[in-house]
Amino acid sequence: MSDPAALRLFTPLELRGGIPLANRVVMAPMTRARASEPEGIPSPEAAAYYAQRASAGLIVTEATNISLEGKGYSQTPGCHTDEQERAWAEVASAVHERGGRIVMQLWHVGRLACRETSRGGPVAPSRQTAPASVWVARPDGWTGTVQCDEARALDVADIRRIVGDFRDAAVRAVRAGFDGVELHGANGYLIDQFLRATTNRRTDAYGGGRESRGRFLREVVEAVADAIGEARVGLRVSPRIGYADADDPEMTGTLLRCADWLDEMGIAYLHLAEADASFDDLARPDMEFRKALRDRFTGPIAVAHQYDVARAEEALESGLADLVAFGRPFIANPDLVERMATGTPLASADRSVWYGGGAAGYTDFPVHDA
Ligand SMILES: Cc1cc2nc3c(=O)[nH]c(=O)nc-3n(C[C@H](O)[C@H](O)[C@H](O)COP(=O)(O)O)c2cc1C
Repeated sequence: MSDPAALRLFTPLELRGGIPLANRVVMAPMTRARASEPEGIPSPEAAAYYAQRASAGLIVTEATNISLEGKGYSQTPGCHTDEQERAWAEVASAVHERGGRIVMQLWHVGRLACRETSRGGPVAPSRQTAPASVWVARPDGWTGTVQCDEARALDVADIRRIVGDFRDAAVRAVRAGFDGVELHGANGYLIDQFLRATTNRRTDAYGGGRESRGRFLREVVEAVADAIGEARVGLRVSPRIGYADADDPEMTGTLLRCADWLDEMGIAYLHLAEADASFDDLARPDMEFRKALRDRFTGPIAVAHQYDVARAEEALESGLADLVAFGRPFIANPDLVERMATGTPLASADRSVWYGGGAAGYTDFPVHDA
């Protein structure tokens, strides 16, 4: 590559509805588990952390809880109290001061929780216990993983309440100055649990067939778009991440069905997480799904998993993706965009700093000294 800066990756793009991005590099959402416990206030260093990375075309924050019920992991932030909203306002303004754009990823974990992390205990489309564990930090300093507890099946009144929680958190995010929100419909959490036949065994209007399994997502998107405008709503999905025994061969078909109405609704973008971050191998993208998605969804599509500059450019050149999200490379390279544009080698972060702790391994990675 003779002149990396000339690549499509570094050209601007507008999200549908008009949010302008300086380039096609997205900072992927990454939980860093540094929020206060139990208040869920983002880390005091969060504003500096995100501002350091503001040269990304778009930053998607770490997954952020819409309620205490929807919380599955200790030290993850929320956006359902005034105090949390005030702290997020500092994050948004720090990123905007540096010329960046930032959306908040909104999260309800559903069955991926235990009674210690989720107020009232885990909930899910149907009664079930996820064969998985979650990360817990106790007041006495103990940290470790705890098995998920049995999730209670949501009734229709609960579903309405949760749709409202998504809407309220989105309103808070925009009031805090965020450019919009990304609904977390990926990685086995509540929205994803509704979409999959394996985790959704309901026989009412929210389950049974593809259309019905998409109803919860549809109600969330409609409520959030109604409150903050469809141009401020993105959605992340991960058809191939069947985390905790949730593989559903019908999932791509279900998502394509959803893509039709998501397109009609005119949401800002779709974000495809192509494989689990615990896989270190290069997952081959499902090209058939990407093509079918492109045919149905006319807004920008972002892809994520193990990209480097060459693979990113290939994805953009194929015409099947418009944005490329980078996760792990952003941890140790706050100036990832500049490094990629100049062909500068990347630093790497030790896994031990991913979750928990303070500024170390978070805001102390230097920019490259040119
Ligand atoms: C430390 C860490 C935390 C993550 N947290 C989230 C999250 O909160 N929400 C989400 O959708 N994905 C999350 N992911 C997945 C990333 O967004 C991304 O899809 C994944 O790391 C693959 O991209 P990469 O190969 O560029 O790292 C996380 C990944 C890592 C490594």
